[in-house]
Amino acid sequence: MHFTRMSSYDTAEVPVIVRGDGAYVWDAHGRKYLDALGGLFVSQLGHGRTDLAEAAAKQAAELAFFPLWSYAHPTAIELAAKLAGHAPGDLNRVFFTSGGGEAVESAWKLAKNYFKLVGKPMKHKVISRAIAYHGTTQGALSITGLPGLKAPFEPLVPSTFRVPNTNIYRAPAFLEGADGTVDPEVFGRWAADQIAVAIENEGPETVAAVFLEPVQNAGGCFPPPPGYFQRVREICDQYDVLLVSDEVICAYGRLGHMFGAERYGYQPDIITSAKGITSGYAPLGAMIASDRVYEPFAHGTETFLHGYTFGGHPVSTAVALKNFEIFEDEKVLEGVRENEGAFRGTLERLLDLPIVGDVRGDGYFYGIELVKDKATKETFDEDESERLLRGFLSKALYDAGLYCRADDRGDPVIQLSPPLICGQEHFDEMEQKLRAVLTEAAGLL
Ligand SMILES: Cc1ncc(COP(=O)(O)O)c(C=O)c1O
Repeated sequence: MHFTRMSSYDTAEVPVIVRGDGAYVWDAHGRKYLDALGGLFVSQLGHGRTDLAEAAAKQAAELAFFPLWSYAHPTAIELAAKLAGHAPGDLNRVFFTSGGGEAVESAWKLAKNYFKLVGKPMKHKVISRAIAYHGTTQGALSITGLPGLKAPFEPLVPSTFRVPNTNIYRAPAFLEGADGTVDPEVFGRWAADQIAVAIENEGPETVAAVFLEPVQNAGGCFPPPPGYFQRVREICDQYDVLLVSDEVICAYGRLGHMFGAERYGYQPDIITSAKGITSGYAPLGAMIASDRVYEPFAHGTETFLHGYTFGGHPVSTAVALKNFEIFEDEKVLEGVRENEGAFRGTLERLLDLPIVGDVRGDGYFYGIELVKDKATKETFDEDESERLLRGFLSKALYDAGLYCRADDRGDPVIQLSPPLICGQEHFDEMEQKLRAVLTEAAGLL
């Protein structure tokens, strides 16, 4: 299995999920779970939608497969136009992949290739943030900022460098004001400026791109402080570095907008996306690039020598079109924007528990950081974290009928990313189940 300690199933039974309906899934024993992670940040419209299944079946019957290698097919064309229409500014060029890691990989290759064509061949390096996850292929893993995930596969692709992320809960003490708090704008400015420092340290003539998620997932949902992305944009313009918005999680309604960049009002040069583009009814990813980045490829014999057999698979692009038709018909994004305050408010009730240090996120995307000591923000050591997350929480939450993720790639967090169709009754159910399990967890420490 993927990212799984195989030995943990020497004695325990592998959970087998057999069906889903709306925000719920059922296992092989008939037990019901609230899918508070949308599968894996994927299931925007929830499970069991026959309209999406029918769109897939219809396309498979009409044209099951044709590649996008010098050919096209109607649903890829229509979907590309739709994405270009929604993407901010001049992001008008769509390159389909089979998933998120491939989109990230494609974006790095595009950035390198672009700078070679515009006469800056040394620009190839990538800056990304500490603890950020960008995928598992060797390029995407190299951009990932989680040393533990990379160690078994080193040496990876050279030329990637890390800067601090936007975890204001653990902002450096030197940014604290006289009252002991950190002004989010001061923090945002500092965090963005670290990108300029990294570019200067590496030599601006060697840096091609900065890869940032709108809200960083790994570490437990770090939204951007006010002004952060505006400052990053200035820095990228100053040094001619491409800003890649990795929206594999944050696009397609997760934050109440088609794209995270739209929510926070910044203009990327490239967006990478996947997951919710089809609500999980078929695999698909999309890299969306600006006209400026596309331009050097538009002449003579130039070719982007890159592609994937299943990138823009007809069944997947047909499903994505249906997915977006439903978004419009059922006002899904409007629903997220209307309900996100209620979601936040419901989760914030958990702050009365001593083990809950922070509740953070935006839209339908939240992280709950668990701490040993709330007053000092002391976190758990490796052993405690192992016992808490793997030894207790993951199983206890699941046994309680809540599918979500207990993650300690950074400090220990619980991650929530429910289907966008969820409402107050689901928020309450999450809060109640989390409260019961976290209360028990605190008692075990
Ligand atoms: C921000 C980000 N980028 C890239 C990826 C990789 O996507 P995939 O697993 O589809 O290759 C992920 C997956 O979770 C992600 O969250």
